[in-house]
Amino acid sequence: MTTQYDVCMLGMGPVGTVSGLCFAKQGFQVIGVDVNPERVASFARGEAPFTEPGVDELVKETIGTDTFRVTADASHAILHSSIIMIAVGTPTPEETGIPDLSQLDNVAKTIGETIKNAAHQPVIVVRSTVPPGTMRGRIGRIIAEHSGKAIGEGFHIGSNPEFLREGKAIKDFFSTGRVVIGADAPDVADAIAALYKDVEGKRVKVSVESAEFAKYVDNTWHAIKVTYANEIGRTVQAFGGNPEETTEIFLADDQLNISPYYLRPGFAFGGSCLPKDTRGLLALAKQHGVSLPMVAGVLPSNEEQIDQGVARIMQHQPKKVAILGCAFKEHVDDLRESPALMVASKLLDKGVEVVGHDPFHAEGSALALPRTDKTLSIVPLEEAVAFADALAQLHNIPAYDEVVKSAGKPAENLTTITNRDPHDGQEDTLKAVS
Ligand SMILES: NC(=O)c1ccc[n+]([C@@H]2O[C@H](COP(=O)([O-])OP(=O)(O)OC[C@H]3O[C@@H](n4cnc5c(N)ncnc54)[C@H](O)[C@@H]3O)[C@@H](O)[C@H]2O)c1
Repeated sequence: MTTQYDVCMLGMGPVGTVSGLCFAKQGFQVIGVDVNPERVASFARGEAPFTEPGVDELVKETIGTDTFRVTADASHAILHSSIIMIAVGTPTPEETGIPDLSQLDNVAKTIGETIKNAAHQPVIVVRSTVPPGTMRGRIGRIIAEHSGKAIGEGFHIGSNPEFLREGKAIKDFFSTGRVVIGADAPDVADAIAALYKDVEGKRVKVSVESAEFAKYVDNTWHAIKVTYANEIGRTVQAFGGNPEETTEIFLADDQLNISPYYLRPGFAFGGSCLPKDTRGLLALAKQHGVSLPMVAGVLPSNEEQIDQGVARIMQHQPKKVAILGCAFKEHVDDLRESPALMVASKLLDKGVEVVGHDPFHAEGSALALPRTDKTLSIVPLEEAVAFADALAQLHNIPAYDEVVKSAGKPAENLTTITNRDPHDGQEDTLKAVS
């Protein structure tokens, strides 16, 4: 069956309106739907129901043409559209943080009841910001229940989050830097991607759940950036420093500061600088009566990363563990604040026997461990592997990869921060922490 519209947009708030108009501007047939009669009437008059630069002009340009219309008749729109996008609100109450998904539940029910009689297999895409798993586990399930059709058979699911900023929405739509598309099958992803024919930027095609999660990751990161800048600004002002100069110095480093480095998940940081200077900044701020709650959370979060690593090792219920790599990162011998030694201490605390190996620490030596009087014996690699019933690989070096692969023992790769250091040329070899 040939459908009349390329896209049906359910929910004509800022996100649904701007997206719908921008799809229409590229020549696609778009039908918008809203339950609010005032919103529908506003479009019929050729006016956007809210203020956003350029939107009124786009409404006037497209409304009543073949490319864009808005209706209250959801069933008509759903039944005659190839791609059904959901852009209803997902408000999050301050007290719980758990989003209210009732608007999504309502549209899912309407979609299900409507597509029961559809001859085509529409692609149903969530554009609203939702927790990962919502499309498949909640919206998809409701649609399946009410349509009697299965995901991937009677209809397809997708996620295509919106990254616009209000006030710059149309500009952001066309030069977003990337279009994120979550789908189960390449042809479904391609169908969604085709809607962006005039849009610049890379296409990132991923699972539905990864696409759903993207907005939380981005928006929280933006909040973290603002907060870090503000915490540094407060500190500089408090000691009478120059905030502009501080910012200029910080932003001038596009190797480690303003770059992808240090932004891939891995194991805890350590060494002679990061923990020490984080403590130093906190102490400086405290001396000047400045509170830095976000920076204060950094070292506890790092310790949590170590605890979770230890918990992962303990899942194997080992009696003997070999720590492969003891320095705070590979290719150096520096043991200061090494997360590997923290892991060893915490394992000893739990009654596990632990030995270590490190290419730069002599066999037969005993390394002092943090928070305990006990030491870690350094043994030859073959001996460490033979001794242990579980391996904890803290350094990504080929020799360790090799023994971990062939040892036939449970192994945890706790990848150190080293792999995020651009100077060692290994940033692309980072292994995902499973
Ligand atoms: N506003 C932004 O800058 C922005 C940017 C990116 C993503 N988002 C996300 O996109 C989603 C939508 O945001 P928004 O600001 O446009 O929301 P909004 O609450 O302003 O608009 C939602 C619209 O959906 C309509 N609606 C509710 N139930 C409906 C139904 N059953 N059928 C049809 N229409 C229905 C409402 O009447 C309203 O007009 C949210 O999840 C939001 O978090 C927002």
